[in-house]
Amino acid sequence: MKKIIIPFLIFNFSLLTSVKADEGMWLPMLLKQLNESDMLKNGLKLSAEDIYSINKSCLKDAIVHFGGGCTAEVISDKGLILTNHHCGYGQIQAHSTVQNDLLTNGFWAMNQSEELKNPGLTATFIIRMEDVTAKILSGITDSMSDALREAKINEAIAKIQKEAVAGTHYGAFVRPFYYGNEYYMFITEVFKDVRLVGAPPSSIGKFGGDTDNWMWPRHTGDFSMFRIYANKNNEPADYSPDNVPYKPKYHLTISMKGVEKDDFTMVYGFPGRTSEYLSSFAVDMIMNESDPAKVKIRTTRLKIIDEDMKASDKVRIQYSAKYAGLANYWKKWQGEMNGLKKLDAVNKKKLLEQDFLLKVNTDDAANAKYGKLFGDFEKKYGEFRILNKQRDYFVEAILGTEAVTYALGFTDVIDALKSGKKQADVQAAIDKLKTNAKAFFKDYNASTDEKVCAALLKMYSTDIDKKQQPEIFKEIEKKFKGDFEKYAKEVFSKSIFVSEIKINEAFEKMGKNYKKIEKDPIYQLMISCYTKFSKDVRPQYTALDDQITKLNGNYMKGMRELITTKKYYPDANGTLRVAYGKVEGYYPRDGVFYNYYTTLDGLMEKENPLVDEFMVSPKLKEIYQKKDYGPYADKNGELRIAFCASNHTTGGNSGSPVLNGEGQLIGTNFDRDWEGTMSDIMYDPNQVRNVVLDVRYTLFVIDKYAGAGYLLNEMTLVK
Ligand code: ARG
Ligand code: GLU
Repeated sequence: MKKIIIPFLIFNFSLLTSVKADEGMWLPMLLKQLNESDMLKNGLKLSAEDIYSINKSCLKDAIVHFGGGCTAEVISDKGLILTNHHCGYGQIQAHSTVQNDLLTNGFWAMNQSEELKNPGLTATFIIRMEDVTAKILSGITDSMSDALREAKINEAIAKIQKEAVAGTHYGAFVRPFYYGNEYYMFITEVFKDVRLVGAPPSSIGKFGGDTDNWMWPRHTGDFSMFRIYANKNNEPADYSPDNVPYKPKYHLTISMKGVEKDDFTMVYGFPGRTSEYLSSFAVDMIMNESDPAKVKIRTTRLKIIDEDMKASDKVRIQYSAKYAGLANYWKKWQGEMNGLKKLDAVNKKKLLEQDFLLKVNTDDAANAKYGKLFGDFEKKYGEFRILNKQRDYFVEAILGTEAVTYALGFTDVIDALKSGKKQADVQAAIDKLKTNAKAFFKDYNASTDEKVCAALLKMYSTDIDKKQQPEIFKEIEKKFKGDFEKYAKEVFSKSIFVSEIKINEAFEKMGKNYKKIEKDPIYQLMISCYTKFSKDVRPQYTALDDQITKLNGNYMKGMRELITTKKYYPDANGTLRVAYGKVEGYYPRDGVFYNYYTTLDGLMEKENPLVDEFMVSPKLKEIYQKKDYGPYADKNGELRIAFCASNHTTGGNSGSPVLNGEGQLIGTNFDRDWEGTMSDIMYDPNQVRNVVLDVRYTLFVIDKYAGAGYLLNEMTLVK
């Protein structure tokens, strides 16, 4: 017996203390306290104050939250910013037409007057952050009801935010950290005139497409460039031809030295969302139920769309962005499931829980606070997983029919008309629907959607318990004998929501005729499913979710109190973070090792003139043949494209600067490796790698490929 127990304890102990330098997304203002010495030991040549300071300009002042979902970095004193191609994709697409296809051909402004404006796009700087926990939680007690607690917290947040920026042009927001155990406020400066400067063609910026997405080794030149404009006072302003390039407090210098194995790296950006402190019950639900269900539904949906895209160029263009979006997370969830399985994640979580309980049980006070925690988790997840499945199926399978989601957008107007509001009063809302209709039908193919509808409803009816199905499924059973293809055919032939002509006719008589819309078969399908969801799923789901969040908060509090051998970083929540690690390859599976960098030779090996995703432009080939790499080649004369490193990143880190020990830019983050996609839930230092575009390839493309080398003149390059 002893032989078994001893290794078990050692293993357990190593789990607790295994906070490797690589794991974690740290708060910039706490680096000094929590990470500086570790970072210095690992190769940082700066102080924490150089990375984040409120007293002097620092790296932080070059980091931009780009459009809310990505990161960008300032690389010149004229407000030039660098991000990913896939982050600027929407803007590049918006400027594209069939005659002038910037996605296919790329775009380069040859001077500032050629830069393109992008309504709605913002670039946000963080002026400073502040721990406001004490202010938010003062007066909050354990005995308060949940509703009162929430109201008090929201009231305090609103007050602090308002006071913090009164009389300035700054914004402020407060976010909970560690499941509400702490609160931090962020003061922001939001620029609204952000212009497109340049983007490579998709054959470079999206090379490898969905096939290579979430994978290493990678050869994608995933970058695009924008410029921030300000008014004459260097402050944010709406677009105006009078605006001038923004003068940043700090811009990154760019290293031409490249990276070598084991070099220190850090990533500074805005990671979106992680859940590293879940209970074993949650991880079990995600990897064994939720991820597989979502993957299953999207597999069916993507297969149908793919077949139609292959059969028609029109459909291919209509669905390319939608397909990429659906495929991105479809692929990510599969990687996540595999990774969690390989890690034996549920059992690892259980071991952590056992360790926690051991501590809890030695202390009466702790036992009173945390003794029932896992029993509570188990009970709540017993109920929650049923609701979660229904929610997943509603979102992915029911709303997977585009026409159903589209019809859902009409309910507010119909409700307003029904409740007796005059058409004139709801006209603004109707006008908005009209504008949306144009955009919707531009990229809509009804016959594809009909096939998706039949397949997804069928899947819903087999996978979801009969008692939990919306009323309409009984009718389909009765009238169509469960033949969903026949049902979809009939519905799609009659509905106004699948035809631009019919919907435009309906707009003309919407005021009196809303009853006709209510009788529309797609509308009825939508209403039946939506009503069921809003009555029997959403409220219960939300209530349980809140209760579970509270349990998580308690668990988090207990871990920080009782297991003090570990440093805890807060889960990603779209706020500014620093991750650090080193340049290194990895063993993805037995007998296979992946090197840490890729080259243009590797891109040429992947070339396939018959497959869109792997076509190489003649110009790039010509440069390759001449080996005309200029100062962008490495010491062996190779042109490196990408490298991978062990920085802990997630969605939202796309476009983030990857910096060396001196704080110089060495690359732009754009993806994660397939074997490491579970790091949003559990990190594994042996498998998790962030995927980075080598900045020398970026400069090479701008200079040698695009002939926009003039842009390099405003950058600060270090040889
Ligand atoms: N996987 C990357 C991220 O999560 C890039 C996605 C864009 N590229 C694509 N081929 N769909 O966003
Ligand atoms: N491509 C992701 C993004 O858009 C980053 C990859 C990841 O999730 O790590 O943010």
